[in-house]
Amino acid sequence: MCGIVGYVGNGDVVSVLFRGLTNLEYRGYDSAGMALQDQGEIKIYKTLGKLINLKNELEQKKPEIKHPTSGIGHIRWATHGSPSLVNAHPHTCSCGRLVVVHNGIIENYKELRAELISKGCNFRSQTDTETIAHLVADEYAKAKDLEMAVRNSVKKLQGAYAICVMHKDVPDLIVGARKHAPMLVGVGDGENFIASDTPAIIEYTKRTIYLEDNEIAVITKDSVKVTDIEGNIVTKKIEMLPWEPVALSKLGYKHFMLKEIHEQPDVIRNVLNGKLYDIDAPIALNEVKLDRDGLKKLNKIQIIACGTSLHAALVGKYLIEDFAGISVDVEASSEYIYRKTTTDSSTLVIGVSQSGETADTITAIKQARAKNSHVLIITNRPDSNMARLADSLIPVNAGIEVSVAATKSYTAQLISFYLLAIHLAEIKGSLDNSYLKNIKHELIQLPTKIEEVLSNTSEIQECARKFSSYKNFIYIARGVNLATAYEGALKLKEISYINATGYAAGELKHGPIAMLDETMPVLSILIPGGITYEKVLSNSEEAKARNAKLIALTSSTDINIDALFDIVLRIPQVSEILSPAITCVPLQLLAYYIAEFLGKDVDQPRNLAKSVTVE
Ligand code: M6R
Repeated sequence: MCGIVGYVGNGDVVSVLFRGLTNLEYRGYDSAGMALQDQGEIKIYKTLGKLINLKNELEQKKPEIKHPTSGIGHIRWATHGSPSLVNAHPHTCSCGRLVVVHNGIIENYKELRAELISKGCNFRSQTDTETIAHLVADEYAKAKDLEMAVRNSVKKLQGAYAICVMHKDVPDLIVGARKHAPMLVGVGDGENFIASDTPAIIEYTKRTIYLEDNEIAVITKDSVKVTDIEGNIVTKKIEMLPWEPVALSKLGYKHFMLKEIHEQPDVIRNVLNGKLYDIDAPIALNEVKLDRDGLKKLNKIQIIACGTSLHAALVGKYLIEDFAGISVDVEASSEYIYRKTTTDSSTLVIGVSQSGETADTITAIKQARAKNSHVLIITNRPDSNMARLADSLIPVNAGIEVSVAATKSYTAQLISFYLLAIHLAEIKGSLDNSYLKNIKHELIQLPTKIEEVLSNTSEIQECARKFSSYKNFIYIARGVNLATAYEGALKLKEISYINATGYAAGELKHGPIAMLDETMPVLSILIPGGITYEKVLSNSEEAKARNAKLIALTSSTDINIDALFDIVLRIPQVSEILSPAITCVPLQLLAYYIAEFLGKDVDQPRNLAKSVTVE
């Protein structure tokens, strides 16, 4: 979604802002802009579409850009008002002396707008953000102090915001404020940064101050001041960012998605590191802060998530119920938050999120906290808002994920659920010791098996070539791989815009079979040795009888499979219960290669955002 970066210092302001925005662009946006403090003037540049357009615009306007010493930049994902130049940020007050960039949604903007119009403000856009520009300018006229004007203004705002404000009369000073939307300060030497997320600043500094709700930061090139909403100084800790700028490089891969798919073996090793090191030793999951007695007595878990994280949660449910016999509900956060739930103080509520910033999941977690539940967060961003709400926090250590389509973060979430389910089973004593050892042994083998899948993708590429012209797909599976079918279909939809549905194989004959013919390929996930193989096989036969083209994703070596299916994608031998951690990989690759053949924007699919920070 939207992204903010601000900079004050002696560096090349345009390039710092542009690099910052570039490192945020994976979040998804439809317009971009920046405002520069340049020799006593505020100069604003905005373009529609990708950042390359802003780059060209800045190049063209180079003669008029003299020596900027500070600036704020923004990428916008339209919420209020269409993606258009007039709606792109930065927004200004009527006289253009004050500029604002904003992430979030101001819920009472209509009332404020009406009031400001009655005071003579001249509104030009349809955005809620422009209201902030006029409001702060109005307060500035009274207070004659930008920090005070921002403080007085945010007290009147309802909703979510991370804002940066500059004023022509207060050169080289940026005021930032946040509520329900992330914002951080990057501390440099003789330069300071402010941004909505760490990738925007990582190329310049690792020293970071995370702002909390209702805090206001004032940065100049030599100082950072943070106050609360009443103006009291807040002493903040400077934290070191845990990753390197190289995480934002494609390292020779054509797309971030492909690079991230290939990182999965190492990601799994990272997640297992220190937690599963010996099959005879119990899983070391010290992150779970409930005591052993509490965990032993636990009989209700609710997992809340969205999108791909929701699919990981479904695998988690299967594992926890299977290994530990604890009843687990899984629900989309957007549904959970608008109904009367049975969450109570004896419920363990698990929030799963790659970004840790998904608005629906944050709201759901807050609701669960209000009911005194213990909240466990599984996230790839231990520095996120969601992580800050956790009683227990399992960081999944997948490294920054740039491609909008989640891949390595999904696998990392799955592995975290394996560890959690085994941990619960060990505490409850619910699994046979030799079974436990086998599972642990297999978990340790997983990265090598995924490396095998990644080392030969020719069949997957061939499949992608053959099927890239189809308009509809059904992915079928049963049991623990049903979530894989959902996730595989979601990957295809997201990046190739092909209609794909994940379906419980046994449900095919209760409706969707009516759609089957030679135009609707069916992809079946078949893992022998478990309880679902034969059933999925016969469901595939049913599809074949309706002339559907069949693709198998299987670890079976049975040659009869080759006779039944048009294409067989083989993966290494794996037990059914562990197979979701491998079966997801060829499906990610299949989606990737189909989108690639179709020439789609793989890393930044249309309409999608990496962090969905609005409900
Ligand atoms: O950051 P989160 O995991 O909370 O995000 C949830 C979904 O928006 C996300 O998984 C989305 O479905 C991805 N684009 C999937 O590839």
